[in-house]
Amino acid sequence: MIIHMNLGQDSYDIVVERGLLAKANKYLNLNRRALIVTDTGVPASYSKSIAGQCKDSVICTVESGEASKSMDMFGKLLQTMLDHGISRKDCVIAVGGGVVGDLSGFAASAYMRGIDFYNIPTTLLSQIDSSIGGKTAINFEGVKNIVGAFYQPEKVLIDPDLLNTLPQRQIANGLAEAIKMSLTSDRSLFEYFENQDIENNLEEIIIRSLNIKKSVVEEDEKEKGLRKILNFGHTIGHGIESSEGMSELYHGECVALGMLPMCSDRIRPRVIDVLKKCNLYRELDYDWDKITEAAFHDKKADGDTVTVTMVNEPGSYELKTMKCLDVIELAKACLGG
Ligand SMILES: NC(=O)c1ccc[n+]([C@@H]2O[C@H](COP(=O)([O-])OP(=O)(O)OC[C@H]3O[C@@H](n4cnc5c(N)ncnc54)[C@H](O)[C@@H]3O)[C@@H](O)[C@H]2O)c1
Ligand SMILES: [Zn+2]
Repeated sequence: MIIHMNLGQDSYDIVVERGLLAKANKYLNLNRRALIVTDTGVPASYSKSIAGQCKDSVICTVESGEASKSMDMFGKLLQTMLDHGISRKDCVIAVGGGVVGDLSGFAASAYMRGIDFYNIPTTLLSQIDSSIGGKTAINFEGVKNIVGAFYQPEKVLIDPDLLNTLPQRQIANGLAEAIKMSLTSDRSLFEYFENQDIENNLEEIIIRSLNIKKSVVEEDEKEKGLRKILNFGHTIGHGIESSEGMSELYHGECVALGMLPMCSDRIRPRVIDVLKKCNLYRELDYDWDKITEAAFHDKKADGDTVTVTMVNEPGSYELKTMKCLDVIELAKACLGG
């Protein structure tokens, strides 16, 4: 199945197909030099399969984990490109999750002011979310995603078979973002989560999630407005994620919890049931001072406000400007504490 991302000059195809990795050259121009970027947690056979289809390639394997989205690794990729004589006509290929995609996409955007970038996402989160939309970034001075660029890929290849090696907890991590998109934008997908066997229908979930993200990005490529709904659940979610002691939780696990206060009382039990089904619901001892600090570090004053996305009914949303402290009170009332 091909999903076309309509972004004028920057349009591209997203190809979704089982077994795609082995025939990537059918869709990508690999008859040139390529820098292939992957990480130590991604099975090496994936990047080797791509290398085998390239005319000439070099594989750069970074350490798995968020720490690789660094200035150091960015520099290392640029150095590798220079050393291997990668030219303006060559390409960068990401074979990995969001970390590899964000890092190598940014390197592709900067090298010679931008060379072709192909993304082959290997986690559920990257297959439904981070690989499309063109946001690339690294972390700097402890601030996440603070340096980066909007840089659309030339093509995205999504092979659901690559998820066979992905740990269950990483699958759940990706599902959290899909549930998020269904809540703001697609009632039937939310009902699908409620009624269907999720594990055995990942391909369907990937395609339906991609279509939601596609229409949001097409309408608001540079995140001036609508695209903010993709941050549903993220205000409190980020707070939970960055508050000390919760750091063992994955991003999606935090977003799952962060969505609950932003849902109406009426639908919250349904959302909890779906989260439980995906192993994304848990009870925690929240440290609200730290969560407040992490969620609103730049807004301390009592009267400061934030615009959050609320969901009253699956598939629709409401933007609400609230005092930061009221958002925290809402979260406390819902999550406990
Ligand atoms: N650009 C965007 O629009 C966007 C959107 C959301 C998130 N992100 C970024 O994405 C990153 C998170 O991405 P992620 O959740 O994919 O995490 P990740 O890239 O860290 O991958 C998670 C883990 O899974 C391993 N892995 C990857 N593919 C595998 C496979 N097929 N089999 C076995 N193991 C595999 C990795 O080695 C890693 O240890 C964050 O840095 C976040 O900021 C970007
Ligand atoms: Zn997220």
